[in-house]
Amino acid sequence: MILVTGGAGYIGAHAALALLEAGEDVVILDNLCNSSREAIPRIEQLGGRRVEWVAGDIRNRALLDQLFVRYPIDAVMHFAGLKAVGESVRQPLRYYDTNVGGSINLCQAMAYAGVFTLVFSSSATVYGDCSCMPINESTQCGQPTNPYGQSKLMTEQMLASLGSADERWRIGVLRYFNPVGAHPSGLLGESPRAAPNNLVPYLLKVASGQLPALPVFGGDYPTPDGTGVRDYIHVVDLAEGHVNTLQYLRQHAGLRAWNLGTGLGYSVLELVAAFERVSGVSLPLDRRERRPGDVAQCWADPTRAFEELGWVAQRDLDTMMRDAWRWQQANPMGYEETARPVPSTASLAAQAQGAG
Ligand code: NAD
Ligand code: UD1
Repeated sequence: MILVTGGAGYIGAHAALALLEAGEDVVILDNLCNSSREAIPRIEQLGGRRVEWVAGDIRNRALLDQLFVRYPIDAVMHFAGLKAVGESVRQPLRYYDTNVGGSINLCQAMAYAGVFTLVFSSSATVYGDCSCMPINESTQCGQPTNPYGQSKLMTEQMLASLGSADERWRIGVLRYFNPVGAHPSGLLGESPRAAPNNLVPYLLKVASGQLPALPVFGGDYPTPDGTGVRDYIHVVDLAEGHVNTLQYLRQHAGLRAWNLGTGLGYSVLELVAAFERVSGVSLPLDRRERRPGDVAQCWADPTRAFEELGWVAQRDLDTMMRDAWRWQQANPMGYEETARPVPSTASLAAQAQGAG
């Protein structure tokens, strides 16, 4: 059985489904701070099987110890964390506590339980501001410039130390580029609790009339049309990469990092054009100055993942936009419209006690 921390969230939910589809049993641990319990029955519906799930926090060691006793967990996929860059600048301790402290707590509980196989959600942000494209796993350009990025790098370093100290560990570090899109059913997608900051969630709010115009940050980057270039990857491709990683780790000990990206860079304006093409919706644009902290361009060399994991992204930009739009139209307010009320802390604790 696979423990999926953060499995009610955007990427974790798609990964939990991919695991079910691969024949794995899944237990989800999520405190719902940025997600909805409504994701769980939808994962079950799509996967055709029951998912165990526990409402709780990765920083709660006693709860983790209970989980490892109660379920026959043999590997962990660790998605739980906080991910808003701007918020991390304002609330650094919260980010280091959850992302670094939570990961340390999880690894301690794993070692105590004798579970040593871990897939960790890292980010291309660990490469810092790189000018040499594409980025491969050995690229060393600099440091992340914000606490969120630092927390990912620190966790990677902690995991590397762990891998060196104890040969029982099997750790896959996955550096995501820009995950977008949604499950083609329209049942799973990104449903952030706060106002969107990232390009595609913002674009979807504009397309559905909830926000007036899409800000385009920067028109003077050294890119073909002057707007920022990124490696957008379909979240279902990303999820499938996790299953391949798990299969690799079952055969290989040690720690290894892989980029999960398509290897293709698209500008903001190219992404907007793709969305307009597949949706038939015209997006009002609001040209702005560069957003502080943004890099001009960032795309992956995904060769290592292809050669070692046998994984390659299959879905193109039009598919990403089509699936994102289907999700938005079917769930204009994310999961919230259909979700039951978020439970109180007391009821979460009670559920954690009697999980399952
Ligand atoms: P998300 O916010 O949708 O999912 C994270 C989940 O973790 C949420 O369901 C949240 O409720 C849960 N969570 C947060 N803190 C927790 C805690 N202390 N205990 C238990 N659960 C907790 O985000 P996502 O986009 O699915 O990202 C998943 C992981 O991938 C994160 O670690 C993120 O940093 C990383 N990542 C995301 C992106 C991206 O663009 N989405 C890019 C690179 C890396
Ligand atoms: C951001 C984070 C990164 C994190 C990732 C996923 C920053 C600096 N980086 O990546 O650490 O891993 O999100 O959470 O925040 N854009 C617009 N208008 C918008 C929003 C974005 O033009 O309203 C542009 C940006 O300038 C950029 C591109 O769209 O060129 C992608 O932006 P975004 O989706 O926020 O992702 P990143 O900045 O690449």
